[in-house]
Amino acid sequence: MKRVFVTRKLPGNSLSELSATGYQVEVWPEFLPPPRERLLGLAKGAAGLVTMLEDRVDAELMDAAGPGLKVISQYAVGLDNVDLEAARARGIVVTHTPGVLTNATADLAFALLTAAARRVVEGHDYVRRGEWRTWHPELLLGSELYGATVGVIGFGRIGQAFARRARGFDMKILYSSRHRKPRAEAELGAEYAELDDLLTRSDFVSLHTPLTPETLHLLNAERLGRMKEGSVLVNTARGKVVDTNALLEALAHGPLFAAGLDVTDPEPLPADHPLLQHPRVVVTPHIGSAGRSTREKMAEMVCADVRAVLEGRAPRYPAF
Ligand code: NAP
Ligand code: GLV
Ligand code: GLV
Repeated sequence: MKRVFVTRKLPGNSLSELSATGYQVEVWPEFLPPPRERLLGLAKGAAGLVTMLEDRVDAELMDAAGPGLKVISQYAVGLDNVDLEAARARGIVVTHTPGVLTNATADLAFALLTAAARRVVEGHDYVRRGEWRTWHPELLLGSELYGATVGVIGFGRIGQAFARRARGFDMKILYSSRHRKPRAEAELGAEYAELDDLLTRSDFVSLHTPLTPETLHLLNAERLGRMKEGSVLVNTARGKVVDTNALLEALAHGPLFAAGLDVTDPEPLPADHPLLQHPRVVVTPHIGSAGRSTREKMAEMVCADVRAVLEGRAPRYPAF
């Protein structure tokens, strides 16, 4: 029986269905990831691996699994933790979960934008501390969404879904990406802008690129310094797209009013990290795709693609 190792429990019935169709499915049962040595040991002899974004999926892991490893299905759309070249060199198929999580992630990005701009979490903390004694015209004034300009960096599936939400709030949309998107420009009334121009003109900036060598610290001190006075940054892409020290500086002494972050560097973010000392930094623990039905569909996708490859069919969502 072919062995499939899954590095975390997944919601829904897909894993039980996979077992029922004749695979030996082994699931790491704990909440925390398997320690590296355990992961290498448990991968041994697997024909398929289902991996998460915190797993380092490199040549060492592929070789620990051995020559029987045919497919790695990543339970995420982002693949920055997976060494695609190492997989390709070994003839291992890699799949992921694009599309299904687009709306859930765009929803969270928009929630972070609203929360950071209108000081929702700061307001909640204020109430919890017992400081709410009166209504006042100058209490917790924030930035307005209506009519503001939002810059979307990385205009792919999630970036465009985010822009669609921004349009519903009557915001002006700028985008920067590797390629121009005439169809999306027309549909969303979006205007293409070079990155530096976008940063200078936007009241809100939302990141939607993958993490690649080109996007590592894309927002560095120089670029963050260019942002508009009082602007708000949202990151639901990957923590390392932003230089954290430069972000702290831009919040403390630079132009940034607030930030909404679902991804951070480091990640997980320790509770005593300086980012959490800032009153207008809102952080969620990388839950962009964490809608129940989205996460169940992601499980269906990875299981279907594991089966496809192991049964000699083409996977639906190949990474390359
Ligand atoms: P996608 O459809 O591939 O879109 C990514 C876009 O980024 C593409 O349109 C691409 O540009 C653009 N891009 C790539 N390199 C760039 C660069 N150097 N400069 C500017 N733009 C660049 O991917 P997606 O499905 O929207 O997902 C995007 C990312 O979101 C994922 O890779 C993942 O890291 C992150 N994500 C996070 C969560 C979460 O839980 N927070 C959930 C899902 C995804 P062109 O099209 O112009 O070539
Ligand atoms: C989540 O971050 C993903 O890439 O799917
Ligand atoms: C505020 O609550 C208002 O009525 O304006």
